[in-house]
Amino acid sequence: MYLSFFNLKEQPFNVTPDPKFLYFGESYQDALAYLIYGIRMRKGFVVLTGEIGIGKTTVINALLERLDDSHRIAHLVHSNMSLKDMLRFVFRDYGLEAAGKSKSELLLGLQDFLIRLDQKGGNAVMIIDEAQNLRSWQLEEIRLLSNIETAKRKLIQIILVGQPELLHLMNSTELRQFKQRVSLHFHLSAMTQDEVENYIEFRLKVAGYQGKRLFDDGAMNEIYKFSEGIPRLVNAICDRALIKACVSDQRKLDKKLLRKVL
Ligand SMILES: Nc1ncnc2c1ncn2[C@@H]1O[C@H](COP(=O)(O)OP(=O)(O)O)[C@@H](O)[C@H]1O
Ligand SMILES: [Mg+2]
Repeated sequence: MYLSFFNLKEQPFNVTPDPKFLYFGESYQDALAYLIYGIRMRKGFVVLTGEIGIGKTTVINALLERLDDSHRIAHLVHSNMSLKDMLRFVFRDYGLEAAGKSKSELLLGLQDFLIRLDQKGGNAVMIIDEAQNLRSWQLEEIRLLSNIETAKRKLIQIILVGQPELLHLMNSTELRQFKQRVSLHFHLSAMTQDEVENYIEFRLKVAGYQGKRLFDDGAMNEIYKFSEGIPRLVNAICDRALIKACVSDQRKLDKKLLRKVL
C-alpha cells in the first residue's frame, strides 16, 4: 500500500461516494443549480444526462443533501420494473403502505398523498437513476405520474438521470408527448484540463497529502488526455500511478511513469 509511502491518511482516489471528496467544477455547480431550480419551481420533469463516470450520481447525492425536510424523496435506480413495482418503491420511500394494493389503488393512494403533502407546503421528488435503460412504454407510464397536478402546479417533480442514450430515447416519435413535458434538461460536461488538475490536487489534500507537488505538468497532461476529464477515469489512473510510483520508490510522478500505467 502506498498510504505510508506518500504520508496519506486515506486513499485519495477511491471511487466510493464520500462527500468530503466532492469537487465542484463549473458544470457540477450548474447542474446542481438547475436541479434545485427545477424542483423549487415545480417544473414537473427535469432530465440530467452525462457520460458514464462523469458524476451524475454524485451530483444527485449532493442534491439530496441540500433539500430540506419539506421535501419527500423517492430515489430509484432503474432496473426493469413495471409501473406497479415502481410505485411500490415510491411508496416505501414516502413511508406509505403498499401491501395488497392494486396498481390503480397505488395510483390513487399516491395522488392522495401528494395532495395532502402539497397542502402542508411540502414538495415530492422522485429520482430515477440509470434512466437510459427505461423502455419507451415505461417512460410513458412515468409521464402519467406527472399528470398528478393541481390547477397551479405539479405535485411531483420527476428527475430522470441517465447516459446520453436517454436523449435518443426521448427523441423517438412515440415519445413526443413525453418530450414536450420535459421543461429542463442539463448535460453534465467533462472537466476541463484546469479542473482535472485542481480535482487531483484537491483529493490529495483531503486525503492528507502535505508534501511537494506530486504529479508534474507532463503527468497532468497525460491524465487529462487519457481521462478526457471523466472523474472516474481520473481516479483509476491516479490510483494506478501512485501504486506504480510506490513500488518503484519514486516520489515524483512524471509523464514517463504515467505512460507505464496507461
Ligand atoms: N464532482 C465530483 N467530485 C469528486 N468526485 C467525483 C465527482 N464526480 C465524480 N466523482 C468520482 O467519480 C466517480 C464516478 O461518478 P458517478 O457519480 O458514479 O458517475 P456517473 O453516475 O455519471 O456514472 C465517483 O464515485 C467519484 O469518485
Ligand atoms: Mg451513476
